[in-house]
Amino acid sequence: MPYNAVTAAARLSIAPMMDWTDRHCRFLHRQLSRHALLYTEMVTAPALVRGGAMHLLDHHPCEHPVALQLGGSDPVELRHAALLGAQAGYDEINLNCGCPSDRVQSGTFGAVLMRDGARVAECVAAMRNAVDVPVTVKCRIGVDEQDPETVLPEFLARIVAAGCERVTIHARKAWLQGLSPKENRDIPPLDYDLVMRMKGLFPNLHISINGGIETLDQAEAMLEAGLDGVMIGRAAYHQPADILSQADRRIFGAGPDTSAEAAVAAMLPYIEAHLSNGGRLHQITRHMLGLFAGRPGARGWRRTLSEGATQPGAGPELVEAALECVHALAPQAKAV
Ligand SMILES: Cc1cc2nc3c(=O)[nH]c(=O)nc-3n(C[C@H](O)[C@H](O)[C@H](O)COP(=O)(O)O)c2cc1C
Repeated sequence: MPYNAVTAAARLSIAPMMDWTDRHCRFLHRQLSRHALLYTEMVTAPALVRGGAMHLLDHHPCEHPVALQLGGSDPVELRHAALLGAQAGYDEINLNCGCPSDRVQSGTFGAVLMRDGARVAECVAAMRNAVDVPVTVKCRIGVDEQDPETVLPEFLARIVAAGCERVTIHARKAWLQGLSPKENRDIPPLDYDLVMRMKGLFPNLHISINGGIETLDQAEAMLEAGLDGVMIGRAAYHQPADILSQADRRIFGAGPDTSAEAAVAAMLPYIEAHLSNGGRLHQITRHMLGLFAGRPGARGWRRTLSEGATQPGAGPELVEAALECVHALAPQAKAV
């Protein structure tokens, strides 16, 4: 994919989320938006380089534009991992400097790297030299007692000088002691204004904002306010059609709206193929539970799938049966 096309896609991206944005989830999201940039779950550089876990790079050709997020802090290892990612066909390599989990801290990955901008810069430079695709960073505004007003601009200046051309800022601190990863996504307060000020300080740096954005209206407002991109995580996972089905028209000005129903139809052959390769239905349908969120029949859809998809032999007919719950309560059906 051309370099600029990936940057254009970053106007709206779906966040990397461990255990959530796997390849099945990304396939579903791609049925809803042709243009949004999709991120993988974090893949650690040691898993690829030392563990040889190449299956972690598997993805479907339709997922593009798709970015690989790496975790790590060793420039040599990250360089190698970035190369493997680019060879596997990813359109961008992103370094995780925002994830606060203990496991990740002990490996010196993620948010703890906000304390060591010099090392992050080394990592970025090493990856930048290894690949032709964009190298980007996802970070927080700071950690623990750090003062984001000083730490964040210093951090950004270092990574830009090292060749990072795009950054996504989760607009809250990570508190590395005492909060679970989940609490660290909600409790430290959001500071959108600080991210806006970074755009003023770094006008040539493509900055995406992340954290707490729950609607496409909010995303549009952020773009109108001057930010280059918006990254959405949990809202896109829990209500994928609400976030993505109008995104191509409203965010990218290109393309018709899609629908949850059309996405389901596109998922059926994908499900068939997965099952015939020995996969299980719930591995895909667990990501589809929120497709009809807020619509009549959503509860029946969700219940039918969550109760039935783990049963032995469950297949696409369960998805069709779940869809009946939505159709049965659709306004035109009620009127008949
Ligand atoms: C289940 C889950 C897993 C996550 N895993 C990652 C990850 O692997 N890498 C990362 O940079 N952020 C990860 N995050 C954080 C999200 O990318 C995002 O920054 C955060 O959820 C805030 O955005 P939101 O309010 O739009 O959800 C994860 C979030 C969730 C909910």
